[in-house]
Amino acid sequence: MEKSLIILKPDAVQRGLIGPILTRLEARGLKFIGIKLSQVSSELAHKHYGVHEGKPFFAGLVSYITSGPVLVVAVEGKDVIEIVRSTVGATNPVKAAPGTIRGDFGVNIGRNLIHASDSPENGEHEVALFFSSEELIRSERSVDQWIT
Ligand code: PPS
Repeated sequence: MEKSLIILKPDAVQRGLIGPILTRLEARGLKFIGIKLSQVSSELAHKHYGVHEGKPFFAGLVSYITSGPVLVVAVEGKDVIEIVRSTVGATNPVKAAPGTIRGDFGVNIGRNLIHASDSPENGEHEVALFFSSEELIRSERSVDQWIT
């Protein structure tokens, strides 16, 4: 079982894209175990993006992610890192394939709508950074219970 942290960044929230983006993630079959609106502090942004400190885009990335409310989502399941990242598309929306979230809704790498964890290790780490254990749902989902 893997975990992935997904962040709908301030541009996605401000453009009214929470619904369309969550619809795609949910329709893909992902299991949400945590979800909340949040204003990311500078301290949390530095922790989350710390590995990129020193890169030319770092200051802009921190200023972007802290510029307004975000929707933070935790998902769990087999292969969720790859499943989420293929649904999200390439980092640069210019290169993201049509049919992916960034390929359909974005045009600018500095406003690329959504973050997704890039490895199982980072998924565990990032989910724990943004969610307390009390905020995460542990129960098994039973799809059959609702469709039979
Ligand atoms: S790297 O250098 O390959 O490790 O960077 P990458 O994994 O592609 O991206 C790391 C995060 O930085 C964002 N990014 C940028 N933001 C603004 N401007 C530019 N030029 C830029 N390049 C990369 C990228 O979206 C990643 O953030 P998240 O939130 O993970 O998508």
